[in-house]
Amino acid sequence: MTADHRSGQPTQAAANSLWGGRFEDGPSAVMEAINASIDIDKRLAEEDIAGSIAHAGMLAECGVISKKDAEEILRGLNQVRDEIRAGDFAWSRALEDVHMNVESRLKAVIGEPAGRLHTGRSRNDQVATDFRLWLRGACDRIDTALGLYQAALVAQAEKHADTVMPGFTHLQTAQPISLGHHLLCYVETAQRDRGRFADARRRMNESPLGAAALAGTAFPINRDMTAKALGFDRPMGNSLDAVSARDFALETLAAASIAAVNLSRLAEEIVFWTSRRFGFARLSDAWSTGSSIMPQKRNPDAAELVRAKPGRITGSLMGLLMVVKGLPLAYSKDLQEDKAPVFQAIDDLELAIAAMTGMAGDLVFDKAVLEAAAGEAYSDATDVADWLVRELEMPFREAHHVAGSAVKAAEHKDLFLSELPLEDFQAIEPRIDSRIYSVLSARASMESRTSYGGTAPVRVKEQIDAWRKRLGGDA
Ligand code: ARG
Repeated sequence: MTADHRSGQPTQAAANSLWGGRFEDGPSAVMEAINASIDIDKRLAEEDIAGSIAHAGMLAECGVISKKDAEEILRGLNQVRDEIRAGDFAWSRALEDVHMNVESRLKAVIGEPAGRLHTGRSRNDQVATDFRLWLRGACDRIDTALGLYQAALVAQAEKHADTVMPGFTHLQTAQPISLGHHLLCYVETAQRDRGRFADARRRMNESPLGAAALAGTAFPINRDMTAKALGFDRPMGNSLDAVSARDFALETLAAASIAAVNLSRLAEEIVFWTSRRFGFARLSDAWSTGSSIMPQKRNPDAAELVRAKPGRITGSLMGLLMVVKGLPLAYSKDLQEDKAPVFQAIDDLELAIAAMTGMAGDLVFDKAVLEAAAGEAYSDATDVADWLVRELEMPFREAHHVAGSAVKAAEHKDLFLSELPLEDFQAIEPRIDSRIYSVLSARASMESRTSYGGTAPVRVKEQIDAWRKRLGGDA
């Protein structure tokens, strides 16, 4: 900025050299401050240059510019890219955005031919192209990262297919389950998250380039050529759509929001599993933090922060939805506000996935504590009811009532169901015999649930095998 941006006074800058033909003065300092996006969109530099290289090559192929000019442009763009990669590039706010920063530098490097690059395109199709390319790359990175997260969970699940833990409903002890089964639940979830990113990627992978400002161009360009060069499936069929659509970003943010919410659920479980009150698991020093006042503390900060991330990530989705809502066709400058929320959400999500992958691998579970907890709170009461149905052909509703009475009797004597004397069972239902005790343990309960998708370790191990095959090299 060339002046105090609060002053509203014109900057010392002259009219913009790239578009200022009809301008005499430079912008006010506030104008420059509100208009410039370079601090954010410089992250699109690689994609911007890739798009320009494809465009210049196509213009030469189609005879719109000379081969010689195209070669110069290519050489210059490569140099600009190297400068940016080397951190050796002076970004200018006066030049507003990444597109004009790159083009202006190109002009300084190669001179006159640089002015031919913008033939048959506009910043409107340029930015839409850059942004799609960037988000496509983000979808690919997230897919890989989620695959590694799944692999870490599968590895833990394999160690703990036979580990019994309490399964909860309403966070009240419900029925004993396999810890491996519990962990594989998150593998399933992550697979659907990957599917959502893949869907978004497939729909976004169309090229806006060549739509120009909004109406297409009179130059004999070949949009298939640039689409192919940039790895897009096809050029977009409507030039207005090409420059104004941002649903590809919204859809990716929706996928990111759901993924973040899904991660937050395991994050929350890690928080209470590692709490001393539960004592189910422990995180190593690498994933714990201390307290500045309480020397004994080990805090699961990373899990808490993952639990918090949906605040920011769904905030990005809501923010961009509001930016796009009610915008008339075609491009409006409002759309420049699309990048900050997307960059922030993707950064947050990538960090959250990496943290969850690290913690998923790091957790050490206390099998004895888990098994003891699994047997508490009459978690085998359903097994009593099921036994009555199976062995006495009692209707389930009646069996449920009888089992409830048994729980009441055991509770009264402060005993586990497995400790309740047979006379007490028989006082409730005379046909009960000693075979009932065979179902009265957390492990027996877990092992009995062999229905497809159920928690019995035999089923869990089948699922682990299936995931190993599905995840291939990752798992
Ligand atoms: N910086 C702009 C953006 O991000 C690029 C497009 C500008 N187009 C325009 N007509 N001023 O949206």
